[in-house]
Amino acid sequence: MATERTLSIIKPDAVAKNAIGDIISRFEKAGLKVVAAKMLQLSEEKAGGFYAEHKERPFFKDLVGFMTSGPVVVQVLEGEDAIAKNRELMGATNPKEAAPGTIRADFAETIDANAVHGSDSPASAEREVAYFFSADEICPR
Ligand code: PPS
Repeated sequence: MATERTLSIIKPDAVAKNAIGDIISRFEKAGLKVVAAKMLQLSEEKAGGFYAEHKERPFFKDLVGFMTSGPVVVQVLEGEDAIAKNRELMGATNPKEAAPGTIRADFAETIDANAVHGSDSPASAEREVAYFFSADEICPR
């Protein structure tokens, strides 16, 4: 298995619940390292650009509204098989379908406020990491 990087976002609902530490702790306990992190208040433009591939979907406006409703924490996670590992830790997009013990099962209630985002492929991870971080903001260790 290769060492990968993936983009993780702790969404406004989880930040509002004061769950930042609990969520990052799950990443670290699973062997993922935080190699970059920042808290941001996303603008509509920044959130809309991030989710541009979903622009035509009926929930796009709500998704952008939610993602700009409060601060988020964006991080780059690094580790063996980091993309799949992060998505396993997150659980299904709809928290009602998320396996017990996953982040979404424990911290989210609805599909539109589902606590975390994680890149879904190596190509998305590369695009998403570069969307939020310049090379000199990432600290491999
Ligand atoms: S996928 O696999 O990319 O097609 O994922 P998908 O389930 O379609 O969801 C993409 C992102 O949109 C969010 N989403 C929603 N937001 C608001 N309302 C509704 N109904 C809704 N359905 C899906 C979902 O949380 C995904 O966000 P990210 O941040 O990518 O996980």
